[in-house]
Amino acid sequence: MAQLISGKVISAAVKERIAAEVEALKSQGVTPGLAVIIVGTDPASQVYVGSKERTCIELGMYSEKYELPESTTNEELLALVEKLNKDDKIHGILCQLPLPRHLDEKAVIDAIDPSKDVDAFHVQNVGKIMLGDYDFLPCTPAGIMEMLKFSDIDPCGKHCVVIGRSNIVGKPMAMLMLHANATVTVCHSKTQNLKEICRNADILVAAVGRAKFVTADMVKDGAVVIDVGMNRDENGKLCGDVDFASVEPKCSAITPVPGGVGPMTIAMLMQNTLTSAKRTLK
Ligand code: GUN
Repeated sequence: MAQLISGKVISAAVKERIAAEVEALKSQGVTPGLAVIIVGTDPASQVYVGSKERTCIELGMYSEKYELPESTTNEELLALVEKLNKDDKIHGILCQLPLPRHLDEKAVIDAIDPSKDVDAFHVQNVGKIMLGDYDFLPCTPAGIMEMLKFSDIDPCGKHCVVIGRSNIVGKPMAMLMLHANATVTVCHSKTQNLKEICRNADILVAAVGRAKFVTADMVKDGAVVIDVGMNRDENGKLCGDVDFASVEPKCSAITPVPGGVGPMTIAMLMQNTLTSAKRTLK
């Protein structure tokens, strides 16, 4: 039986440490503050944003949530970001993606003060990650690295295959694995021989966005499988990018969905907000 890497358990440990640090920081007069912006009514985004706000409050942080209508203009959104950039109560600004089609995602990310960019999506922070000299790490890849560390899985010298090349997960994931001395292959929708490449992975990270995409025939015996997906199966049940039932017996360790990578993403967001707030003391 594979080791189950529980994001629920690991994120609880991470959050306990953060809550203690938040208390200590508050006694020095600084309460970490996070502003979360959501535009429109995408149900999945609403769930994510709700969890982010709840976790903030649970850890003793200050939280502001901006729920803007679908009709919001670029100018209105940029004006809100500017206001939050100048607000000393706010140490982290997160604009939930994707934005409605008429809005300019890049302009919004560019407008966020890099020192408050707790998603690490700003070009300045992306560049720093590339160089291995960063202030913030992107939440999902950082959460995955934390899970591996907690589970005593060292990527050094291993072949890590990442399926997916998004700016949010795939690309930064590849970079963090490289910094951890893994040999990295990034696959995507145009990759040829995907199955063969995946079967070569010691650590397989699935960030495809397709329900149960990774099947047992794509996984090497004893591999570590990390599932970033959050999908609904044919019965409307939450499931990942990995066909857990068939893959689990083959691997040495695997993350479940739900209760895997998801809770770690939120814990890392809290970590970044804390890091940003601590920096104001210096
Ligand atoms: N949409 C899906 N994941 C994320 C994330 O980590 N940050 C933001 N801002 N939007 C997302």
